Amino acid sequence: MVDPSQRRGTGGPGGGWAAYLRRFHEANPGITEDVLAHATDQGATPYGWVVDAVGAGPVLDLACGSGPLAPALAGRGWVGVDSSASELANVRQHGTGRVALADAVSVPLPDGVVGTVVCSMALMLVDPVDAALAEVARVLRPGGTFVALLPSTRPRTASDTAHYARLLAVLRRRHLAYPNDDRLVDATGLMGAHSLRLVEDERRRFACRITSPAVGVMCVRSLYLPDVDPGRLAAGEHLARGWVGKELGLPLRRLVAVREGAGEGTQAGEVSPGSRSRP
Ligand SMILES: C[S@@+](CC[C@H](N)C(=O)[O-])C[C@H]1O[C@@H](n2cnc3c(N)ncnc32)[C@H](O)[C@@H]1O
Repeated sequence: MVDPSQRRGTGGPGGGWAAYLRRFHEANPGITEDVLAHATDQGATPYGWVVDAVGAGPVLDLACGSGPLAPALAGRGWVGVDSSASELANVRQHGTGRVALADAVSVPLPDGVVGTVVCSMALMLVDPVDAALAEVARVLRPGGTFVALLPSTRPRTASDTAHYARLLAVLRRRHLAYPNDDRLVDATGLMGAHSLRLVEDERRRFACRITSPAVGVMCVRSLYLPDVDPGRLAAGEHLARGWVGKELGLPLRRLVAVREGAGEGTQAGEVSPGSRSRP
């Protein structure tokens, strides 16, 4: 989840990512929300940064996880989709049941019914990313907004670099990597191929204050580390227990795109997951 260091290539277990993600989210539902809830930048949170860019409703939260965006977007017709039943079970804590268990490449909504799609901390994972973006474009009305939050390598402080370098050494990893890293380098081209015109690509450092050993452990556990053996992971968690009183930078990237097409305009309302305009 956190992206501390330089990344080259996709790393990870190749075709095993889907199975790894299933197991990871079954074992750790809500962990992304728990970590990002500890992260701030001048009083702002990563989820607040996403909400700031949201346009008209209804809002589809693609790969919504435990639903951290639901409270802020409930008034704009929030509906969440995720492929993990364990994550969706946690959405209820936010007081909404407007969710569907579905893959990002097959969203159970008709064409052109939502005003905004948000995808927080997941576009780097969804496979294949082109199929997911095609779904984003399909369900968005022309003129609608797409907001994606992603891990980033910058900005970061010298202290962040030192913390992550030590952690990666303990984990015996050269860098962290996600399946879609290479595709997201040229976000303009990737989005443009799906009638999504990129209008913003910003990076921002949030800081996670390590208030207890448990928070340190959670930061390490939230990382996707598909090929790190349990012994190295335990060593990484041991290291993070010693970070109490420090802060760990979480550099994030926010992409905002507009759905191109004739008849731009928005209309607020509600949508219910369960139907598609096409098979
Ligand atoms: C890092 S979590 C982010 C969760 C939430 N959006 C947040 O910001 O807290 C990634 C989420 O993507 C979901 N996910 C991964 N691949 C998916 C796919 N192909 N379709 C739907 N959800 C997917 C996972 O189940 C998980 O809930």
